[in-house]
Amino acid sequence: MNREKYYIRAYGCQMNLYEADVISSIMDKAGFAQVSNEREADIVYLVTCSVRNHAENRVLGRLNSLKQLKKSKPDLIIGILGCMAQNYKGKLSNGHGADLVVGPDEYRRLPELVNKFTQVHKPQIQTEFNTENYEGILPKVVNKTTGFVSIMRGCNNYCSYCIVPYVRGRERSKPKEQVIQEVNNLINNGVKDITLVGQNVLAWNGDGLKFLDLLKIVDGISGFDRLRFITSHPKDLTIKHFDVLLTLKKFCPNIHLPLQSGSNRILNLMNRGYTKEEYIQKVKKGREIIPDISFTTDVMVGFPTETDDDFKDTLDVIEQLKFDFAYMFKYSERPNTKACEIKPQVNETVSQQRLTKLIEIQNQITNEKSKELLDKTLEVLVESKNGVQFYARTKTNKVVIIKEPVETGKTYLCKVIRVAGWTPIGKIINN
Ligand code: 5AD
Ligand code: SF4
Repeated sequence: MNREKYYIRAYGCQMNLYEADVISSIMDKAGFAQVSNEREADIVYLVTCSVRNHAENRVLGRLNSLKQLKKSKPDLIIGILGCMAQNYKGKLSNGHGADLVVGPDEYRRLPELVNKFTQVHKPQIQTEFNTENYEGILPKVVNKTTGFVSIMRGCNNYCSYCIVPYVRGRERSKPKEQVIQEVNNLINNGVKDITLVGQNVLAWNGDGLKFLDLLKIVDGISGFDRLRFITSHPKDLTIKHFDVLLTLKKFCPNIHLPLQSGSNRILNLMNRGYTKEEYIQKVKKGREIIPDISFTTDVMVGFPTETDDDFKDTLDVIEQLKFDFAYMFKYSERPNTKACEIKPQVNETVSQQRLTKLIEIQNQITNEKSKELLDKTLEVLVESKNGVQFYARTKTNKVVIIKEPVETGKTYLCKVIRVAGWTPIGKIINN
């Protein structure tokens, strides 16, 4: 019998990319076959994100075109998985046309739900919360140089703007043994660059061990070159972290540390648990202890009640700290979060103006940071190829373009000979 074919596409954060591989593993084991072309698929899964309205709209647009496709392909099964499934539940089937709506804690049941749908032709909605950690499942790894291991799921922080605790539930750490097993699985499949992921990795704990203990254990595993982690909450980052990171063999000196705002008043309303001054102090200390470290961040403008002065405080931090890169967003109200109660909202035009200004300033900084790489010799790992061009990553998480034949999955020393826009172009020096 022909195996049913599924196609899977992940939107949003690294956690979703990781979980798409968990889903593939579950589906393959149950006898389904993955395809990389949506047109060949009997089942299309979208692993979705609810963190901002914009992310949701993209998926709703996609869902709409799948619904159209179904007119000519009536047996197509459409599955909306992940955070939007958890957020909107049955609403995604009524009117929007999803056949399966399955939240982040219910992926083990996907094969069974597909079979049930095929029998009864009624939408299958599964959005129970449990303490699911996907233990015992090794995510599928196909031909990759970089890979993720999720070490914890969910979040307990309740930042007032954030939907994550409502769609992903309480924080839970994955046992050390499973983390080690997944790291080894990536290594056995040729992965060289491993990122530990979680909503707040610094909160990991298990069997009396803390995140730094886990990091030391993973760093000691042989067979891979580079170790990263994402995301770190500034309130939990301490000087001790930098001292320990300095002693690790594989740690790549880059920390993603979401600032969100530079105004103490707004940080307080956001329930972030740190001040502007504490944040600045931590980054400065980090740079003192690990001089080649790069910091990247997330920043938001237009949080309810944000004034011009609050925004100036954000710009002040941006200009002082000069992040290597920043993801910048306009605040997007998420249903049922605490921030919905904070009034007044910032007018859309003002928010947009602030975002434009912020992007302009940060782009200038990102540009300067790239220019600093000129003539530097860097160790890069080649990750992918596009025509004659190769994309390689530095330890500090910057992408360098290489225009001569190299091998993916291999590490080279290269010299940055040019910076185009903010993309460094490298020439191999140890071939
Ligand atoms: N509106 C805008 N941005 C948000 N983020 C999280 N929630 C919201 C929201 N409601 C941003 C934060 C976070 C990143 C993943 O997304 O900056 O760090
Ligand atoms: Fe959201 Fe805050 Fe948790 Fe990050 S730490 S996922 S911003 S609640």
